[in-house]
Amino acid sequence: MRNFTFSNPTKIIFGKGTIAKLGPEAARAGKTALLVYGGGSIKKNGVYETLTAALTANGVNFVEHSGVKPNPVLSHTREGINKARENNCSLVVAAGGGSVIDEAKAIAAGVKYDGDVWDFFCGKAEIKEALPLFTALTLPATGSEMNAGCVITDETAKHKYSAHGAALFPRVSALDPQTTLTLPRAQVANGAVDSLAHIIEGYFTTTDSDALVTEEVVHALARSIIASTNRILKDPSDYNARASMMWSATLALNGLAACGYGGTSFINHAIEHSLSALYDIAHGAGLAIVMPAWFKHHLAADGPARLEKFGAAVFGVKTAAETIQSFEDFFKKAGAPVRLSEANIPTSDIPRIAANAMGLIRQWGMPQEQSEIEKILRMAA
Ligand code: NZQ
Ligand code: ZN
Repeated sequence: MRNFTFSNPTKIIFGKGTIAKLGPEAARAGKTALLVYGGGSIKKNGVYETLTAALTANGVNFVEHSGVKPNPVLSHTREGINKARENNCSLVVAAGGGSVIDEAKAIAAGVKYDGDVWDFFCGKAEIKEALPLFTALTLPATGSEMNAGCVITDETAKHKYSAHGAALFPRVSALDPQTTLTLPRAQVANGAVDSLAHIIEGYFTTTDSDALVTEEVVHALARSIIASTNRILKDPSDYNARASMMWSATLALNGLAACGYGGTSFINHAIEHSLSALYDIAHGAGLAIVMPAWFKHHLAADGPARLEKFGAAVFGVKTAAETIQSFEDFFKKAGAPVRLSEANIPTSDIPRIAANAMGLIRQWGMPQEQSEIEKILRMAA
């Protein structure tokens, strides 16, 4: 078990009716908020009404920055930074899924920086400070509500890159599982795939797997994500399954599930971000295509031991091949695509996808060459 530092300052307020509690929390940070949200789901499920009433009741004015798109883009992020500056916003409030929270984080950091916000994403500048951020999560998937990362796409250059910095941890996140009752089935699937992807990246690329507690954290989270999702698919109104899923997805990428693993790599994510950048595919859908192929590559390169251990603990199967099949079966059952063709991505594009992925692979300091990425993608054909 390797040395590690675990620091996570985000306060989580979890459960029914918790979004209103963001009002007094936000009031402690300032008087004018930039309120960031997406295409309108929060207006249909009551989150907008509850949140804005809580802000107003606590003396917090807000300026709206709506229209964040899934796979949030740089131009809209820059607009948000300008709006926050013009209105002297001293805090940011985000309501929605990972895309909304990520764009809100980039805005919060961008406001405090003299240069262009993309500098944080291409490694030109470090995030040193950000406006305080408060989030109302409505889609369990990314863990953005309790981590220090954000992902933005430069839609012109077609680069989907990430930025990180302790200043990006939300100050408070309210997680009300009732908000997830309105999720379309495809987003339930995307969230399940993404949260599983977050724990398997570390588990399968660790430099030290003799970290018993983290091994068991990963197994438990995987079992919970799969069991919760199966219950949600059967009965979308199952509150306790929604609640379990929401907390599992948060824990999957708040740092807990990688403690002691030493250096790990986010290779499936690096490849997926290229798919999202080029085809605007949902992150979870892209991962469901990449992961089975990457597992096959992992099996050939590193042998069956990790797949066998994971499969026995999570799926109750014996062989590495059965573990890969179990992942694929679960993704399919949830309704996610598992091959490039199912997302209408032609195999003739594989060199282009791999070339695009190399940008992130180099930035994240990973050793893979383009030929290896092409090989993995061919297994996803
Ligand atoms: O825009 P609205 O109208 O809100 O609709 C959204 C959007 O269309 C909808 N939705 C969200 N909550 C809903 C709802 N619809 C009905 N009821 C609700 N309760 O769902 C759609 C997708 O939302 P989005 O935020 O894009 O999904 P997700 O949470 O999966 O976020 C994906 C983004 O996060 C990034 C991904 O790359 C992608 O850009 N990631 C962020 C990470 C991080 N910050 O740590 C890590 C991840 O690996 C990931 O890369
Ligand atoms: Zn992810």
